[in-house]
Amino acid sequence: MFLQRLGLRNFRNFEEEAVEFPERGAALIADNGQGKTNLLEGVYYLEIFRSFRGARDEQLITFGCGHFRVEGLLSDGEGGVEVAAAYARESCRKKVTLDGREPGRMGEAIGHVGAIIFTASDVEIVAGGPAARRRFLDIVLSLVEPGYLSALQRYRQILSQRNELLRHGASLTELAAWSAGLVFTGSRITEARARWIAARRASFAHYYGAISGEPEAGLDYVPSVPRPGSGTEEGTPTREGWSESFHSEIQRLADNERRRGLTLVGPHRDDVSFWVMGSTERLQLRSFGSAGQQRTAAIALRMAEAESLRAARGRRPILMLDDVFAELDPQRAERVAGLLTAEKWGQVIVTSPKPTEFALMGKSLAEYRIVGGRVNRL
Ligand SMILES: Nc1ncnc2c1ncn2[C@@H]1O[C@H](COP(=O)(O)OP(=O)(O)O)[C@@H](O)[C@H]1O
Ligand SMILES: [Mg+2]
Repeated sequence: MFLQRLGLRNFRNFEEEAVEFPERGAALIADNGQGKTNLLEGVYYLEIFRSFRGARDEQLITFGCGHFRVEGLLSDGEGGVEVAAAYARESCRKKVTLDGREPGRMGEAIGHVGAIIFTASDVEIVAGGPAARRRFLDIVLSLVEPGYLSALQRYRQILSQRNELLRHGASLTELAAWSAGLVFTGSRITEARARWIAARRASFAHYYGAISGEPEAGLDYVPSVPRPGSGTEEGTPTREGWSESFHSEIQRLADNERRRGLTLVGPHRDDVSFWVMGSTERLQLRSFGSAGQQRTAAIALRMAEAESLRAARGRRPILMLDDVFAELDPQRAERVAGLLTAEKWGQVIVTSPKPTEFALMGKSLAEYRIVGGRVNRL
């Protein structure tokens, strides 16, 4: 599948624009502030129906307008599907359609584009706070793991209701049902996240090494409850194992939680650690990595994500690269470009203020210029 046509109406700085893209891909050239990231944000909106930058829907509406609409025609040469989304400020209503029909649940609509977005701000996943890492995992798993998104939504509801009760000094008996629900949904989430990390570890290490030439790198899941079983990082605990561990932590912390009026364990407190092998021990990239190492880890993580999406969908994902070469030294840039132009990836949409960077991706991409929210093929 590739994005054949994109339509944007009152989306960010695009008032009314329709663009056709060839199957191989597109190179979007624009000075800063003209709409490169906005356009990719529009495409990725059709994948997850949220802004990948974490903006609220109303912020995506062109200043002074009442609603936006994004539509994309995904095609495999023969057939295709049209994915569309619209949001109205006044009613706060979001409408998503697949070939004009509203799916029953959001979970059915997400993931039809099959895209990965690489951006310069991905470095925050490695170098920023744990919330960015959980957000990364939640988006990937919502796309590749059936049932994950609904478990996550349920977990968040239970968590907020449980916190509300804790704040108001509820008794253990009153809390019991919520604690059970928290453990039930939470262990589902933690199990899936830990399994994803374990399955992608080799892929991450491979890409990190291929980009940097450094010998060994990895990522580990850091759950807020003790890892069940042997206590090593190897192996993937079962959901029952996580559930028991979560349950005993909840019991152990009961007094503390009621004193503080807050749920102290669960997937909302989990983390991921990224590391490289130093001369004697593992160095945590978040604290000790150079900017280049952190950036490399972020790119390797996106590549591992692309592998995961490819395995889950059984087709080649669309890769979107938002100004990612600017931050890399020439050698790393060349290696990254080499990895991203491999056969196993599908359409590539790349942005840059400097056309010279597109040469890295080969000469096969059609070129477009964006000026003030208008897109023209060159
Ligand atoms: N809701 C909005 N309505 C109109 N313009 C917007 C909106 N949100 C952002 N912009 C404009 O979009 C521009 C930034 O676009 P962006 O795609 O981030 O640029 P770049 O090409 O550097 O990636 C800014 O000029 C900003 O004012
Ligand atoms: Mg940008």
